[in-house]
Amino acid sequence: MMALAERIAIKTRREIDAMRAAGRAVAETLLALREHVEPGLETSELDRLARCCISKHGAKSSFLDYGPGGLPPYPAVVCVSVNEEIVHGIPGSRKLSAGDVVSIDFGLEIGGFHGDSAFSMIVGEKENPEAARLIEVTRESLYKGLEQMVPGKRLSDIGHAVQMHVEDAGYSVVKQFVGHGIGRQMHEPPQIPNYGRPGRGRRLLPGMVFAIEPMVNVGSDGVRMLDDEWTAVTEDGQLSAHFEHTVLITDNGPEVMTKVAGSH
Ligand code: MF3
Ligand code: CO
Repeated sequence: MMALAERIAIKTRREIDAMRAAGRAVAETLLALREHVEPGLETSELDRLARCCISKHGAKSSFLDYGPGGLPPYPAVVCVSVNEEIVHGIPGSRKLSAGDVVSIDFGLEIGGFHGDSAFSMIVGEKENPEAARLIEVTRESLYKGLEQMVPGKRLSDIGHAVQMHVEDAGYSVVKQFVGHGIGRQMHEPPQIPNYGRPGRGRRLLPGMVFAIEPMVNVGSDGVRMLDDEWTAVTEDGQLSAHFEHTVLITDNGPEVMTKVAGSH
């Protein structure tokens, strides 16, 4: 059967303004969470703080109770993934240690529109050169992907650019999870893999908004799911990092909607 052409929403000026407000609130919340990260902190404390930021902004969590395809509803407003955890770590009693890699993913909805963003950092002051390089390469790979988000390029150019940067550094991209369109829904078409051959898929147009989110492993790209059905970990137990931004395509290049001064 022929695949149906996916509908990729083109946001109107008003919708874009609403998404800017959501994006800014996401960015501010992530900065507040970053400030709180320190050795000894329980990951549940980050969820508590994020809930506070959501109500301060008069917003609604995008993550809480989210449960596609028979998954148990996600029980928190933030994902906190530590070391070998790739994404969707559920905050709980795990305590952060100096030198850990912690990845924090957060999304909220304001005025009917979602913003979604994530970053990784090293906990505390302890030196961890391998982790620092992984984090830097992952962040760079996000921006390599974003550079492709100009009208006329094709969808697969984004993932191709991410994959090239990651593999040139000797790391692997996770294939099991993808970036996504975002707007009235947190997850809208299209899916945006962080790998692939260039020049494929739909042409990019102004007004499209995508959440680009490379997940990068030091070792193999293998993924294992924990019994909680959410937490994805590296199969080989090695470190993983994750960066994400919600990005608008414009005639003047990509506009990162989830960024304020000091953001990743
Ligand atoms: N950035 C993640 C994603 O797009 C956030 C989802 S967390 C969930 O998949 F809990 F809501 F699933
Ligand atoms: Co996302």
